[in-house]
Amino acid sequence: MSARTHLTRTLGIAAAGALALGLTACSGGDDASGTSGGGDGELTTIGFVAVGPEGAWREANENNIQETFTKDAGYELKFAPAANLDQKSQIDNFTTFVDEGVDLILLSATEATGWEESLEYAKEAEIPVVLLDRGIEPDNTDLYVTRIAPDNVEVSTAVAEWAVSEFPDGANYFTLEGPAGVSVVNERNEGFDAVIGEESSFNKIGAQTANWTTEEGRSVVETVLKSNGNDVQFIFAQNDEMGLGAAQAIEEAGLTPGEDVKIATIDGTRAGLEALAAGDLSFVAEYNPIFGDVAIDVVEKALAGDDVEPSIVVDSATFDSSEAAETALPDRAF
Ligand code: AHR
Repeated sequence: MSARTHLTRTLGIAAAGALALGLTACSGGDDASGTSGGGDGELTTIGFVAVGPEGAWREANENNIQETFTKDAGYELKFAPAANLDQKSQIDNFTTFVDEGVDLILLSATEATGWEESLEYAKEAEIPVVLLDRGIEPDNTDLYVTRIAPDNVEVSTAVAEWAVSEFPDGANYFTLEGPAGVSVVNERNEGFDAVIGEESSFNKIGAQTANWTTEEGRSVVETVLKSNGNDVQFIFAQNDEMGLGAAQAIEEAGLTPGEDVKIATIDGTRAGLEALAAGDLSFVAEYNPIFGDVAIDVVEKALAGDDVEPSIVVDSATFDSSEAAETALPDRAF
C-alpha cells in the first residue's frame, strides 16, 4: 500500500455540479430562487444544529463550516451546539430554527435515532435539511436533502484491510468504539467486521465504548491488557483520541505501542498523525472534516430547488507509515 493512499471515492457528480453552480452564485450570477447567498443582498439564514465540543475532529469540522458560511458569502449562520452532547438540546434547537423560519438547517446528529418528528416538522415548513457527517436511522432520505460525509464503511474497511496485511497470521484484537447509538459507530463496525469477520486467525477479545476520549481509551485498554495477560496484538480505535489513550495504556503496561501492540485509528487529526510519525500509532485512516466548500455548494443547489444526490461522499486518505505522516503534517489543516 503506498505511503499515502487516496481512497477511491471522489466527490459526487452533484457536488461537482453544485460547485459550478455555487461559483456562479458567488460571483453574483443570476439565481432562480433569489435566495442564494449574496445574490440579492439579503442574507440566507442557516440554522446549524451542531454537536459542540467533542474533540479535535469536531472542532475542525464545525470551525470549517462557520468559516465557510460567512456574511461575505451571503449567509447568516446560527450556530447551535448541543448542551453536553445531549440530543434533547439538539431537538430543541432544531425546533427553534423551524419556528424562526430559517432558510435551511444543517444537522450533525449526536444520536442516530429519534429525528423523524423533527424532520417531518421541518418538511411541513418546507425548510430543507442537510445532514453533515452523522446519519440518521432509519435512513429516510425523504426527510432530508442529502448527507455530506466521508464514507465510514469505506474508511473502516481500509483499516481492516491494513490489519489483514499487517498480521498475516492473525491477531488478538480489541475495538474502542465511539458512543453507542451514533451512526458512524455502527457504520465503522459494519465495514471493519465485514473484512475481519472473514479472517479466522483474528480473535476479537471484545469491544467497548471509550466515548471518543483519550482518558477513557487509556482506562479501557488498561483493563483489557490486565485481563488478557497482555496477549493483545492489535487495537482498532474508532477515533484518534481513543487510540492515543490506548498507546498510553500500552506503555504503562511496560509494552511498546507500534511493536508489541499496534493501534489503528480513524480521523487523521494533527495529533493522530504526530503519533503515527512517532510510531505510537501504526495506521491512520482519515475521516476528512473539511468539507465546508462542498456544503455551501450543496446548500446553493438545494435552495435553488435543484436535485441533489442523497449522499455526497467526501474524499479521504489513509496513512500507513511515519514517513506518510511526516509528509502530510506540514500543511495539515486540522
Ligand atoms: O462523527 C465523526 C466522529 O465524531 C469522529 O471520528 C470523532 O472524532 C468525532 O467525535
